Amino acid sequence: MHDFRKIPLGCAILLWTLLYVDSTRADAPDPALGSVRIADTASAKRGFTALTTRSFTPANFPAGSLQTVWKLWTKSKPGDPVGAARERFGLSEAPYPNNGMPMGLRSGSFGFGISGISLDCMVCHGGSILGKPFLGLGNANLDLQALFEELPGAGTRRLRTPYQFSRARGTNEAGATAVFLLGFRDADLGVHLTRSDLKPVDTLCEDVPAWWLLKKKATMYATGEGDARSVRSIMQFSMSPLHGKAWFEKEESTFRDILNYLYTIEAPKYPFPVNPDLAKQGEKVFRQNCAKCHGTYGNTPAYPNKIIPQEEVQTDSHRLKGFPEAFGKKYTESWFTREREGWFADGYQGRVNHGYQAPPLDGIWASAPYLHNGSVPTLGHLLDSKTRPIRFTRSFRTEESEYDKERVGWKVRPVGPLATPTDPHEARKIYDTGEIGRGNGGHTYGDSLSDAERLSLLEYLKTL
Ligand code: HEC
Ligand code: HEC
Repeated sequence: MHDFRKIPLGCAILLWTLLYVDSTRADAPDPALGSVRIADTASAKRGFTALTTRSFTPANFPAGSLQTVWKLWTKSKPGDPVGAARERFGLSEAPYPNNGMPMGLRSGSFGFGISGISLDCMVCHGGSILGKPFLGLGNANLDLQALFEELPGAGTRRLRTPYQFSRARGTNEAGATAVFLLGFRDADLGVHLTRSDLKPVDTLCEDVPAWWLLKKKATMYATGEGDARSVRSIMQFSMSPLHGKAWFEKEESTFRDILNYLYTIEAPKYPFPVNPDLAKQGEKVFRQNCAKCHGTYGNTPAYPNKIIPQEEVQTDSHRLKGFPEAFGKKYTESWFTREREGWFADGYQGRVNHGYQAPPLDGIWASAPYLHNGSVPTLGHLLDSKTRPIRFTRSFRTEESEYDKERVGWKVRPVGPLATPTDPHEARKIYDTGEIGRGNGGHTYGDSLSDAERLSLLEYLKTL
């Protein structure tokens, strides 16, 4: 990450002054982080290797379960059982050697020499666009609940989960997992066999952000409550009761490498023709209506890292309020916030914000659906709030035929209010914006634009 030892003394003093002055304003992002962060490349390389060859949790599922899990939903054996499982759970083929396993799963161990299948970060952070897997794109096809119910029994039975891992396909309840797992720990990461109930909320409906945005951010997570330099924060996922504090201490440097790798990921470029004149007009519309929150792009990019109060942006408030207070308190007192990076930092405390971060929009064409809860399927819908679909479904495939080039995002079909399948796997394919955590209101900044302005703005957004 930053190697401050290599900075000449004069610069260091200047930097120190800036940081010191800034640290007196609690809400301001760290000025040293306002621009694009340059990753340490040797570390980033190690990070990529760790991310794509290691699992950071013990095995979750029996070895071979991918080959037999089809028995739960069909009578006749599919020609390609692993391919069928990939489609069922919404996983992509791995764009790196992965033993024939989908991206997000890998060979792991239950301990005592018993092998199995583990999850890794890419189950949520490895998506696919235009039929191609992309490491670092949020997985908008994932049915994580089906994965956790069906793979453990390897096709013989379904498991009951202690909370829902996802309720609307393509979104997940990662937050509930963090809260649930911290319940087994004391502040020093000691493991308790009885869980203190920190009251996980499993209706947050979280849309996974693209990793390529992180390099621009000073704060992370939908609410900007994490420091984007924080290594320990991204280790929460590894809180298996089999990992004691020593494991966390030992792997901290690996996760620093992973974070450095995340800073190197670049957004995919829009591959279809763009009308350059129209995009130029759209850039003007963007500068007038959007740039103050989302920044500027092109040769001299600037990103303001703004957290917009919920009363102002008015998108669904459930994610903002959904992290239980008891969790916040325990997390803040725990090992996770006693981080020391370099000589200037005194730990990356979580912040308490009352709004959502206006994210950078690089590669925005590829990361549909939109908003922190994935409630809006295309940019066209986002920019004209009265057209947003209320109850809809889609194919959960990502080939070109499923991509809406006009509206920029996923093609969706409306679903009537009475059509709810009894099979929960099918029901999760319906996104109902009337459900808790799934509201699609707010962010009406495109509403007052003329159709012509909106059209040009969409063309411009394709170029980011
Ligand atoms: C169960 C799904 C899931 C898994 C597994 C997962 N994440 Fe995430 N991750 C999320 C979600 C959802 C968010 C957004 C949370 C929010 O903002 O509320 C997120 C956010 C992040 C962010 C912040 C991004 C930003 O720009 O705000 C980072 C960094 C990150 N995850 C890294 C990791 C790493 C590294 C791993 C593996 C060790 C991992 N995640 C595993 C679901 C997951
Ligand atoms: C007052 C600040 C503000 C303005 C002005 C604004 N936005 Fe946003 N925008 C936000 C915030 C905050 C979010 C995140 C809201 C959420 O996820 O609930 C957001 C989210 C988005 C998203 C979704 C990002 C994602 O990955 O899901 C897009 C796209 C977007 N804005 C585009 C625009 C465009 C285009 C304009 C100009 C017409 C604009 N915004 C104007 C604050 C703003």
